[in-house]
Amino acid sequence: MATKLELIKEIYKLDANDLQEKKEALQKIKPYIDDIMDSFYEKLLEKEEFAQFIELDQIPQLKQKQIKFVAELLSKPFDEAMYKKIAKVGVVHYHIKLDPIYMSYGYHLLSELILNQSKKDPTLLPYLKLVIKYLKVSDAIMSHEYFSQKTLSESPYRANNLFMAINELHMAYIRYKSSVVDFSSDEEAQNAFMQSLESLKEYRDILADIGINLNTIKRFHTEFIHNRDEKSFLTFKNALEKPLNDLNVTAYLATGSSLALLRAMTETINEKMIVKKEDTSFQEVKENIFVMLTQNFAWAIESIVFVEKEEEEYEIFKHLMYKGKVFFLGINLKNTSNKLYIAEMIDLLCETIKITLYLRSK
Ligand code: HEM
Repeated sequence: MATKLELIKEIYKLDANDLQEKKEALQKIKPYIDDIMDSFYEKLLEKEEFAQFIELDQIPQLKQKQIKFVAELLSKPFDEAMYKKIAKVGVVHYHIKLDPIYMSYGYHLLSELILNQSKKDPTLLPYLKLVIKYLKVSDAIMSHEYFSQKTLSESPYRANNLFMAINELHMAYIRYKSSVVDFSSDEEAQNAFMQSLESLKEYRDILADIGINLNTIKRFHTEFIHNRDEKSFLTFKNALEKPLNDLNVTAYLATGSSLALLRAMTETINEKMIVKKEDTSFQEVKENIFVMLTQNFAWAIESIVFVEKEEEEYEIFKHLMYKGKVFFLGINLKNTSNKLYIAEMIDLLCETIKITLYLRSK
C-alpha cells in the first residue's frame, strides 16, 4: 500500500503541508456544496446510463454520503487510512457494476460544477483548484481499485470460481485415486485429473498461498507416472491430499457448499434431479444420488456406498425407499475441522433426497 500511496503523491505532486489549505478550501465551498450536489444529481439523472443506478428516494442519503466523503478528503491528511477509505468507496461502485469511465465522468461533472462557483466569486478560484486536484486523486485511486478488484482473491466472484475449480479437482482426484490399482491407472481418469490441474492454473498464486503448489504436485505426479511404485505414489498423494484437506477447513468452501446445498435441495425437489422420469431405474437413482452428492460436497466426502442391509460404520446413514424397495446410503466424511457442520449440511441434503424419492415413487 505504501508504494501506491507514494506513487500517487508523486504523480499529483501532493504536498504534505497542504492540510491547512485544504481545510480552508472546505470552508470556502461549504456554503455552495448543497446546490452543487443537487445539480450533480439533476445532470446525472438526465442520462439514462447513469439514471439506472440511482433510486430517486435514495438521493438525499447519497448526497449526504458524498458530502461527508468530500469533507473528509479535504479535512484529513492524505495517508494510508485515507487511501483505504477512497479505495473502499471505489469497491462499492465496482459492486454496483458502475463502469469506471462513468465514475470518472461523475468526477468530471462534480469538478465542473465546483469550478463554476468561481463565476460567482473569482477569489474562490485557487481554493476550488485545490479541491479539484484532490477529486482527481480520488478518481485515480478508485479507478485503480476497480482494476485490482478483478485480481483480488477475496472477490466473491473469484471465490466462487475457485470453489468450483477445487471441487472439480477433488472429483477428478477421487476418480483417479480409485483407478490407481497396483500403481497403474486408467488413462481417462489420469487425463481428467491432469486437465483439472491445468484448469486451476489461473489460481496458481492463490493456491500457493493456501499450501497447494501446483508445480510440485505436477512434478510428483510425473514421477509417479514414470516409476509406478508405492513410494512415488505416496509422495504424490501427500503433496495433494494434505493441503487439500487443510484447505477444506477454509470458510469459503463451507460457504460455497451452503449455497450449493440450498440450490441442490431445490433442484432435488422441483427439478427431479434424482428421479428424472417415471421409469427411472433403481440403478439410475443410485447414480443420480452419487452425482448430486459429489457435485456439491466432493471436497468433504470420503466415500459414498449403497448397501442392502443396515451397517454401523458410516457417519451418515440413511434408509431410502424407491418403488417399494428399501436400500441404504452410507457416507463417510473427510476430516475437516468444521466437520460437525458439514455433516449437518450433507445430512439435510440426504433427508431431502429421501423424502423426494419416497414421494416420487408413490
Ligand atoms: C458517476 C456516477 C455515480 C453514480 C451513478 C454513483 C452511484 C452510487 C450508488 C448507487 C451508491 C450506493 C451504493 C450502495 O450502497 O449500494 C453510491 C455510493 C457512494 N458514492 Fe457514488 N456514484 C457516482 C459517483 C460518485 C462520485 C464522483 C463520488 C465521490 C465524490 C461518489 C461517492 C460515493 C460515496 C461516498 C458512496 C457511499 C459509499 C459507502 O456506502 O461506503 N460517487 N454511489
